[in-house]
Amino acid sequence: MAPHIVVLGSTNMDLVAYVPEAPRRGETVTGREFRTFPGGKGANQAVAAARAGATVSMIGAVGTDAFGTQLRTALDHSGVDTDLLRTVEGATGTAHIVVDDDGGNAIVVVPGANATLTGLTHGDEALITSADLLLLQLEIPLDGVVAAARHAREHGVRTVLTPAPAQQLPPELLDATDLLIPNEHEAAALTGAADPHAAAHALLDRVPEVVVTLGAEGSLYAARGAEPVTVPAPRVTAVDTTGAGDTFVGALAAALGEGRPLPSALGWASTAAALSVQRPGAAAAMPYRTEIDAAAEAER
Ligand code: RIB
Ligand code: NA
Repeated sequence: MAPHIVVLGSTNMDLVAYVPEAPRRGETVTGREFRTFPGGKGANQAVAAARAGATVSMIGAVGTDAFGTQLRTALDHSGVDTDLLRTVEGATGTAHIVVDDDGGNAIVVVPGANATLTGLTHGDEALITSADLLLLQLEIPLDGVVAAARHAREHGVRTVLTPAPAQQLPPELLDATDLLIPNEHEAAALTGAADPHAAAHALLDRVPEVVVTLGAEGSLYAARGAEPVTVPAPRVTAVDTTGAGDTFVGALAAALGEGRPLPSALGWASTAAALSVQRPGAAAAMPYRTEIDAAAEAER
C-alpha cells in the first residue's frame, strides 16, 4: 500500500528570471525570460512525494491573492490532499529567483501567508498522528516546525527534516528528528565542519540518521553504528536546479515509506532529482513514478 506522508511547510509562487549571469550588488543585467512556477520547499516536497507514488497531505497556508488559488490548484492536480491548506487574508508567499546559464540560482523568499504557520490545529495534529512519515523544512516559523516534530515524536511518526534555508536549530527540534537531510552547505553551517563526512559524523550525535545531499555528486548516508555510504547521481546537464533538493527528499520519503532499503532508495531519489534539473521550474519539473523507474532502469 502507498505510504501516507504529511508535509508541513511553505507554499510559494516562484517568480523566476533566467539570466546569462546573476547580477552583483549595484549591477543591472538583462534577463532572457520571466516565468512563474509553483514552489515553496513544503509544497515542492509534497508534489515530489505524490508524483513518486505516495499518498500525500499538505499542511500549509496561501493568501487571498490569485497566486494562492493557482498554487492550491497546482497541488490538487499533482494529487496532493489540500484539505488542511488554509487560505489566510493577505499575500501568498513568493520566491524571487534568478537562474543563470549553469542552472544555478539565487533566491529571496518573502514568506507572506507562510508566516502564519506558528502552531498546529487539532486537525493538523490528528493528520500527523495518522501519517507514516512527516516531512519538515524551515521556510515557516520555527515554532510551527518544532510543534509538529514533537507531536510526531510523541506518536511514533518518523520525522524527516530538511534544514533549509540554513539557520541554527533549537535543540528540541533535532531531538525530535529521525532523519536529517541537509545539503553540504547546511551541514557545514550546522556543525562548523566543511567536509560532508565530518559534518555527517558530528550530526549523528544529535540525530540517528543523516543524508547529506551533494548536488551533482549524489548523496552521503550516515547512521549510528554503520559505515557511511556515498551514492552517486546520474550525470546530466542542468537547466534549472531550483527544487532539486526537494525532489530528492520527496522521492526518498516515498521510497522509504514503501520500505525500500537504503542505499537503493537514495539512488532512486537521485534519479528523480536528476530528471527535475533538466526541466525549468521546481514542482513543475518533478518526475512521476513511471518516469523515475524508466530512468533508473536505463542507468543500470
Ligand atoms: O527549494 C526550492 C524552493 O525554495 C523554491 O521553489 C522557492 O520557492 C524557495 O522557497
Ligand atoms: Na528544475
